[in-house]
This record gives sequence, C-alpha cells and structure tokens, in this order.
Amino acid sequence: MGAFRQGSRKDTAYPETPSVTDPKEVTRDDQPGEAEDRLDTGSSGPGSPLVGLAGRSRQIQHIRELVQKVALSEATVLIEGETGTGKELVARAVHALSPRRAKRFLAHNCGATPDTLIESELFGHVKGAFTGAVEDKKGLFEAADQGTFFLDEIADVSAMMQMKLLRVLQEREFRRVGETQHRRINVRIVAATNRELLREVEAGRFRRDLYYRLSVIKLKLPPLRERREDVPVLAKRFLLKQARRIGLGEIQLEKEAMEALVAYDWPGNVRELENELERAVTLALPAPRISVYLLSEAVRSAKSSLACSTRAAGTLRYETERVERKKILEALDSCRWNKTHASQVLGLSRQGLLKKMRRFGIVARKAPSAPAKCSDAPPGPLDDDPGHEGPGQGATG
Ligand SMILES: Nc1ncnc2c1ncn2[C@@H]1O[C@H](COP(=O)(O)OP(=O)(O)OP(=O)(O)O)[C@@H](O)[C@H]1O
Ligand SMILES: [Mg+2]
Repeated sequence: MGAFRQGSRKDTAYPETPSVTDPKEVTRDDQPGEAEDRLDTGSSGPGSPLVGLAGRSRQIQHIRELVQKVALSEATVLIEGETGTGKELVARAVHALSPRRAKRFLAHNCGATPDTLIESELFGHVKGAFTGAVEDKKGLFEAADQGTFFLDEIADVSAMMQMKLLRVLQEREFRRVGETQHRRINVRIVAATNRELLREVEAGRFRRDLYYRLSVIKLKLPPLRERREDVPVLAKRFLLKQARRIGLGEIQLEKEAMEALVAYDWPGNVRELENELERAVTLALPAPRISVYLLSEAVRSAKSSLACSTRAAGTLRYETERVERKKILEALDSCRWNKTHASQVLGLSRQGLLKKMRRFGIVARKAPSAPAKCSDAPPGPLDDDPGHEGPGQGATG
C-alpha cells in the first residue's frame, strides 16, 4: 500500500475517453444541465443549488455555508447522516457549485452491487477479461472523468473494493479488469453513508487509511428531529411542490396539523416528511386544505404525546392523566391489546377508550409485549384505529 499522502490532489488534464456503454443502467447520472434542473442553477442567491437545501435551523445554515466553501475545493467529501437527511442532495449541490459543474455527476450505490460485478462496473474491463467480456468497457470512474463521482452507501463496500478505492484516492489511477497498465483519472469523489464510518473503522469493518482519505472534509447532516424548526419550512416547500404538480394555487396546512408535524420524530427524516405530505394532499383533494386528521396515526399521536409530556408535573390534571394513562396501558396489556375487552375492563365504551388512547398518544400495538408510552420515541405500528377524531377531543376526566 502506498504512503498516506493526505491532501495530495493532482488534477492533471487527460484526453477524452470514449463514452461508457450506458452508465444510466447502473447509476444515477446527471449530464450537465440535469443536475441544475433539479437544483436550480447559479452559485448563490435565489437560483443557487443551495436553495434546494431548505431549512432555517442553525445546523442547515451551517451546512449550506460549508457546501459553498467545499464545492470550490477539490477535496474528497464524506457525508454522513441518517436515511432521508439529504445526503444525495448535498452531494449534488457540491457538484453543481463546483468548477466541475459542466461535467458529469455520476452516482453509484455501493450497497446495491454484488462484489463480483462492482469492480468491472467501477473500473471497466478489457475484452476477454472474463467470460462474457466480449468487448472493452469503460467503468464509471472513467465515465465521470473531469466530473464528480458520488459513492453512496460507502460503508457497504467489501475489503477488496476498499483496497482498490484507496488506490484511486491516493494515486488517482486504476486498472480496468484484465488490464496491466494503469489509467489516470481526474474525478472528484464524494461519498456518503448512513452509518458512522469511524465506528465502522473502530469495529474493524472499514479501513482506517481509506476513512481518512474519504473524510478530508466531513459533513454530518443532522436528523430532522434535532432541527424541528426546519419542519415548517420544509412542509411549506413540499406543499408548494404538490400544489404545482396538481395545478392548485396553494395548499394550506391547519395549525394543529403543523404542530403534529413539528412534534413527530421523523425516523425517515425529510423523505418521510415529504411522503407524509404527499399522502395527506392526496387524501385532502379536492379540498386544498390539510387538517390534522389527514395525517397518519403515528404523526397525530406525536402531538398528543407532546401535550401529555409537557403538562406541568404535580398539577391535579397531570396526576389524574398519569394515573388514567397507566390504568389504560395496564388494561390493554392484560387484554393483549384487544380494545373491546380492555374498554370493558375499564368500564368505558370502546369509542371512549379510543378517544383516550388518542389523547394520551397511546399507539395501538399488535404485540402485547410492546407497551406504548408517552415519550419522544416514535410510535409503533397501528392496528385498527379509525382515527376520525383529533387528539384531546372528547376526553372525560
Ligand atoms: N434540506 C432539504 N431541503 C429540501 N429537500 C430535502 C432536504 N433534505 C432532503 N430533502 C429531500 O428529501 C429526500 C431525501 O433526500 P436524499 O435522497 O438526499 O437523502 P439521503 O440522505 O441520501 O437518504 P438515503 O440515506 O435514504 O439515501 C429527497 O427528495 C430530497 O430532495
Ligand atoms: Mg441517498
């Protein structure tokens, strides 16, 4: 293995190579112009690719500043973040703001390709290198030459590929499968993972030298639950997008619905929020208005959980509700979450029990071993809750 040369970036110009067979078959490929369509163009101001990265939190503002600076350098970037936090969006913004923006942005999901194929896919092969190699084929690294190559799910690459990627990063050269000579490339690499890559290193699953090569600049995208102030901004943006799609002027979100969105923990982050709103809009049509009842049960429950957990401890109301809640959970557990039986045990009507469950943010579970609780944890799966009434309604003391 070659010496570790941090920051070494030899950006030599190389002759144009023939075009790859069809990178779109295996990658997400933005030809010049396509990325810009998705992100808007320009380097700053309203048309900037950064506008695609919505949010007003301090964290997201910081990410936007970093992206702008990082884009101008040639440094390899590692983007970490939970699923749906916008890693690919950031990678595209880095490319779209960089001097390479007129060239290709190619993305490859390292987790989706079996090890036997990945080498030929990334580095190409020569005719006769293996059965079925009937002609020379350019790999994705070559196809992305002069542009940006986005290695998604980088934590999933095998030890063998880690070694080969290290060589590309160190030497800026590689070999097609079956070839003896090395080829040089000039590609900016951006990698992403939804794991903490350093933990993978410490667990012995990822090469430390490759980790340092990849993380010359590291961007960590915070989960949405740690920047709840971004939820209204994102929600408005997604509703505007939906309104445009279906040709409506505006789609309104009722106050209670917005509160529920802000209270929910969003394990699937921004993608989940976007999907939630798309679903709500579909249910709301033809009315251009989203009430809390159109949101999924998990999201609605978050609002009632929040109300429950923020009530002042020690007050009579708090203590009464605490006891009520405890009794309801006990009854549900003892009846294996059969609500009809539990309501009989509690001396309530079934409807009365459902109202109280909604009020206290108790999410119905199929498994008796999974008691619901009024906490910040995302609620579990639903069973038969019809959900026609809002949290806090109709509770009897
Ligand atoms: N800050 C943001 N502003 C606007 N849209 C966003 C933002 N962050 C994410 N999105 C949108 O959320 C969706 C998911 O983003 P993206 O695909 O970049 O996430 P990811 O981190 O790569 O997720 P995964 O790990 O699952 O691949 C996309 O539709 C993206 O446009
Ligand atoms: Mg992604």
